[in-house]
Amino acid sequence: MQAVASPELSPALREFLARPSHQLLIGGKRLDAASAKTFETMDPATGRVLARVAEADAADVERAVAAARQALSGPWSRLSPAERERLLHRLADLVEREAESLAQLECLDCGKTIREAKNGDLPLAAALLRYFAGWPTKIHGETIPVSVPYYPGASFLHYTTREPVGVIGAIIPWNFPLLMAVERLAPALACGNALVLKPAEQTPLSALRLGELCLEAGLPEGVVNVVPGFGPTAGAALAGHPDVDKLTFTGSTEVGREIVKASAGNLKRLSLELGGKAPNIVFADADVEAAAKGLFMGAFYNQGQCCSAGSRVLVERPLFESLTAALVERAKTVRQGPGLNPKTQMGPLVSRQQKERVLGYIEGGVKEGARLLAGGEALAGEGYFVKPTVFSEAKDSMRICREEIFGPVVVVMPFDSQEEAVSRANATDYGLVAGVWTGDVKRAHRMARALKAGTVWVNCYHFVDAAAPWGGFKRSGYGREKSQYAIDLYTQLKSVWVDLN
Ligand code: NAI
Ligand code: MG
Repeated sequence: MQAVASPELSPALREFLARPSHQLLIGGKRLDAASAKTFETMDPATGRVLARVAEADAADVERAVAAARQALSGPWSRLSPAERERLLHRLADLVEREAESLAQLECLDCGKTIREAKNGDLPLAAALLRYFAGWPTKIHGETIPVSVPYYPGASFLHYTTREPVGVIGAIIPWNFPLLMAVERLAPALACGNALVLKPAEQTPLSALRLGELCLEAGLPEGVVNVVPGFGPTAGAALAGHPDVDKLTFTGSTEVGREIVKASAGNLKRLSLELGGKAPNIVFADADVEAAAKGLFMGAFYNQGQCCSAGSRVLVERPLFESLTAALVERAKTVRQGPGLNPKTQMGPLVSRQQKERVLGYIEGGVKEGARLLAGGEALAGEGYFVKPTVFSEAKDSMRICREEIFGPVVVVMPFDSQEEAVSRANATDYGLVAGVWTGDVKRAHRMARALKAGTVWVNCYHFVDAAAPWGGFKRSGYGREKSQYAIDLYTQLKSVWVDLN
């Protein structure tokens, strides 16, 4: 590990971190939890406590949902679409103003590298806010030419309107804490809803800071509430709450199932973005340099803690040896260290628990007989670092090939035909993303058509944009976040009939 001094933290971040405890944000006020409980969030690069945070439970979720409900009948509901647009742009301005300190906060709380936080998470967060700022003035209904077969000659005016869904609960994970918060908040607010956001217990800080920026931007009190806490308490309370109209969840498939059950009481609307086990497929006619980079980045971006990680690499046999060697070479030379160090190329995993979980999968892979080519162990010293790990000679039936590991572990396998690549790529319960590398334009489109995934990247990987829909096939979830399709998730359609007879 490189031991280079961290750059100075920004003054705004130092001030934020110096608070004795980080309170909940409910109804525009910073409050302690009703139980007065707090919990610790750690810096995964050192394993030391970073900050102490108020721990919301059901009582606090109750207060937050009530505040959101009340906000829906306050000044928020009377703002014009253009005013909502201006507020979202103002929030984007503030996120840009705070980009440095927010990026540093992500590095400290979740172990991101400053390079990824500054070049990825922060610009994307601002872009999501600006993209959805454009929507309030463009959300409209239609007039529909109705025929009424049982009333010949009758004349009606029929039109549709789009209304907010109401109180939105958002339960988000720890791998992109700020980005996930913004991805839910931006369309929810563009459509005129109020929000109760439960960040992951591992990474609560940037969502709390975002909540404060919402108030500074001028959003009315109670429109955005932030309740950090644990899944089985705060999360379950939100998922089961009878006055939450819609829930958006990103996380594990197991918890996704719990959410579906918990939502049944009031039949709240759901969108779920769950796990993945993405194939990244290289054909022998691909640009080898580009594919080598794409395979490495696809598997190891954010330490592999991505639902879209390209964790199953399939390489057509003529390129198998050279691409495997390239991947191993990169894995062995990557610089691991604290995310705040600008030289760091790969940070720690988010928590001790995640590190143990990933090491458990690696051990399992070795036991099942896969061949370890690089990594395979934790870094000595403090922090939750795991070396980037490359396996070969694995069978599709092994757990390392079937289950989401969510860490820096990739399996490389050869294939001999396009048919074989497609059938093995699709032989998974998941269907979030897939990657294809080929110089043949026809093959590229044939593959895009054949792969069962919500996103297919051709000769690129891990590209996302506010305007591009994002979501999964199969057990990777349902609903499409980002893009115009998010507007469907965060509005409901009303059908109005006017008798003209
Ligand atoms: P998780 O699914 O337990 O946590 C995600 C969020 O759900 C957190 O905010 C958590 O507090 C909340 N939650 C947990 N239990 C809940 C419940 N019963 N009711 C309501 N909310 C609940 O994921 P975890 O344990 O942090 O990670 C385990 C694995 O899940 C990872 O190794 C990875 O495979 C997968 N995962 C996938 C993510 C994705 O982006 N698709 C993100 C995070 C985890
Ligand atoms: Mg933390």
